[in-house]
Amino acid sequence: MTAPPTVRAATREDRSAIAAIYNAALAERASTFETRPRTPEDIDAWLGKRHPVLVAEENGSVIAYASTSAYSPRECYAGIADFSIYVAPRARGRDVGRHLMEVLLKEAEAAGFHKLTSRVFATNVRSRALLGRLGFREVGVHEKHASLDGVWHDVVVVEKLLLANVR
Ligand SMILES: CC(C)(COP(=O)(O)OP(=O)(O)OC[C@H]1O[C@@H](n2cnc3c(N)ncnc32)[C@H](O)[C@@H]1OP(=O)(O)O)[C@@H](O)C(=O)NCCC(=O)NCCS
Repeated sequence: MTAPPTVRAATREDRSAIAAIYNAALAERASTFETRPRTPEDIDAWLGKRHPVLVAEENGSVIAYASTSAYSPRECYAGIADFSIYVAPRARGRDVGRHLMEVLLKEAEAAGFHKLTSRVFATNVRSRALLGRLGFREVGVHEKHASLDGVWHDVVVVEKLLLANVR
């Protein structure tokens, strides 16, 4: 049994590692509709905001990240955050994702958000298993939500209420 990785807030020094992890997943064409590789400068725009961005570190290297961002520009939805989680291919399947998401849920709650939501490719069984285990509800399916390399994909909308902030 390996010790869980250290989870901490992302800093500018993590930009290249975060971009590399995202770009590896982008190349797999299995979890995001995006096709443009991210640069460290793209990651800058995520940092230093109200929305938590976390990294998981093992033996001094970043092996995963989880980020949140605004769900909507409308003020009434300011308490909802969209989230993403990406684990480097070499670190998958050994609970890094679960551990990182558990910390993200706590940090998002501490930051005052009342709900996390995301859209997961219907075919992404690993992500759906992870989120289901963490208490995310599958709200429904957006059919043919976007196309990737000419193929339409359904996405499952997931959400979890952060109970401290819905009293
Ligand atoms: C999805 C992802 C974040 C999960 O992280 P991970 O560290 O690999 O997952 P974990 O080891 O914490 O396991 C999560 C769950 O998936 C299950 N699982 C692992 N591999 C699986 C597989 N091939 N099929 C089905 N379930 C699987 C595990 O058993 C675990 O469930 P459990 O907690 O009930 O045992 C990671 O695989 C990843 O980054 N994938 C590519 C990008 C991606 O899909 N991001 C999510 C976008 S919404």
